[in-house]
Amino acid sequence: MKILFAASEVYPLIKTGGLADVAGALPVALRKKGHDVKLIMPAYQGILEKVAPIQKSINLGNPFGVGDLLLLETHIPENDTPIWLLQCQALYERDDGPYVDNNGIDFEDNHIRFAALSWAAATLARHGHLMNWQADILHLNDWQTGFAAAYLESWKAEHIPVVTTVHNLRYNGSFDMNQFSSMQLSPDLLTMHGMEFYGRFSGLKAGLVYADAVTTVSPTYAKEILTPEYGDGLDGVLRSMKDKLVGILNGVDYDQWSPDKDTLITHNYGIKTLSQKQTNKLALLQENGLSEDLNQPVFGIVSRLTEQKGLDLVLQVMPSILEKGARLILLGSGDKYLENQYLELQKNYPTQVSVRIGYFEDYSHRLQAGIDALLIPSRFEPCGLTQLYALKYGTLPVVRQTGGLADTVFEEGEKSNGFVFQSANAESLQAAMERTIKCFHETHNWQEKQKNAMSYDYSWEAVTEQWTQLYESLIRP
Ligand code: ADP
Ligand code: GLC
Repeated sequence: MKILFAASEVYPLIKTGGLADVAGALPVALRKKGHDVKLIMPAYQGILEKVAPIQKSINLGNPFGVGDLLLLETHIPENDTPIWLLQCQALYERDDGPYVDNNGIDFEDNHIRFAALSWAAATLARHGHLMNWQADILHLNDWQTGFAAAYLESWKAEHIPVVTTVHNLRYNGSFDMNQFSSMQLSPDLLTMHGMEFYGRFSGLKAGLVYADAVTTVSPTYAKEILTPEYGDGLDGVLRSMKDKLVGILNGVDYDQWSPDKDTLITHNYGIKTLSQKQTNKLALLQENGLSEDLNQPVFGIVSRLTEQKGLDLVLQVMPSILEKGARLILLGSGDKYLENQYLELQKNYPTQVSVRIGYFEDYSHRLQAGIDALLIPSRFEPCGLTQLYALKYGTLPVVRQTGGLADTVFEEGEKSNGFVFQSANAESLQAAMERTIKCFHETHNWQEKQKNAMSYDYSWEAVTEQWTQLYESLIRP
């Protein structure tokens, strides 16, 4: 099948979170199964230096009046995946993140920036002759590409099956109605059953209502988002389309994330050479100037710092956990208040707490290899990838039982691979961390859990069959 996969970030070209990991790996896994997959993403500043030389380019015109949209054909050198980069200087060549400026504020023309990406994806899906490649399926991801489904609807184009994957319902890409006129979309779409959303218009809702199938990234999150608690105002819409909604768990790219071949960690190790994990632990403690006692556990965090991730709860319990001799190493960035609170904690416990604010891919690997347990106390978590990486590194996740965390981490039973708590409050988290510390000191039990953790297979290969079946059901209903 020919699949056009549209996303606003793709690893290793650009990444702010799990979407990039998925867009960087699912197409590769599908290509291995014989599908013909092509990506489309904006040519943000610096991207052209990371891809192979441009093979072909075409001018798609100037539909938004902000400059010509050029489509550049190339591939990702690391894995040969074909990608079309959408170039438009006024929209994408900026010295900041893909969505926000250097102060963390959303760009005020984001509706146009991602309308253009969506418009280009829809145009290619509709007019395959432009690039000599006719897609069978258009696969959209999150609000940034959700508008593509609205363009196809607006153009009353010949039917092409559209799949929309929700990676995070919290970001609904909604904008003020007075910006709608610049979108080049038919106002007929602005109904309650269309893309209107509480008096605004929403890219995510467009992606949901005009798609043939909607997926989300874990079975549990697929159920949770039908409830007001997790639905972020879209639960009613989602309940009305229950039959076309399915949860398919994300996978891991084990070429990137395996301790036995990871070139970014200090010492490679595997299930039979687990003692080498201690060498990574020692190196990580030394790198951060922390107390080097290997007989006490080290907790870690690798995360965007947002309300979603529940990291305010960790701050509440940390003083009493640190008193027991544990340590904490955090890598993250986001909310300024949380960043400052963690820096304050580091100041108060200089030999036990290390905090690095920023985004460092290499360090995230050393951290996963060197810590004993990874904290993910999320209020909601569509899938979560860091717990899956942790498992492979024999690092035990401590998670709240929600979304993809509930589907992948288990405290009870023979195949137990981590620690799980129910309620999003400090008491429940603290109790789970205390169970973690207790287990850490029962060396045999801890090592059993580590071995279980490392044996789980959350590869993309394990789920590509589900993707194939879904695509096929849409092409040949
Ligand atoms: P989300 O997409 O909600 O941020 P995921 O767990 O799905 O959560 O994916 C997060 C991805 O981003 C993982 O690959 C994780 O290692 C990475 N990551 C998060 N924060 C940082 C950071 N500060 N530095 C490096 N990598 C990070
Ligand atoms: C989102 C979610 C995360 C998920 C990722 C990839 O950013 O917050 O849970 O793993 O997308 O699907």
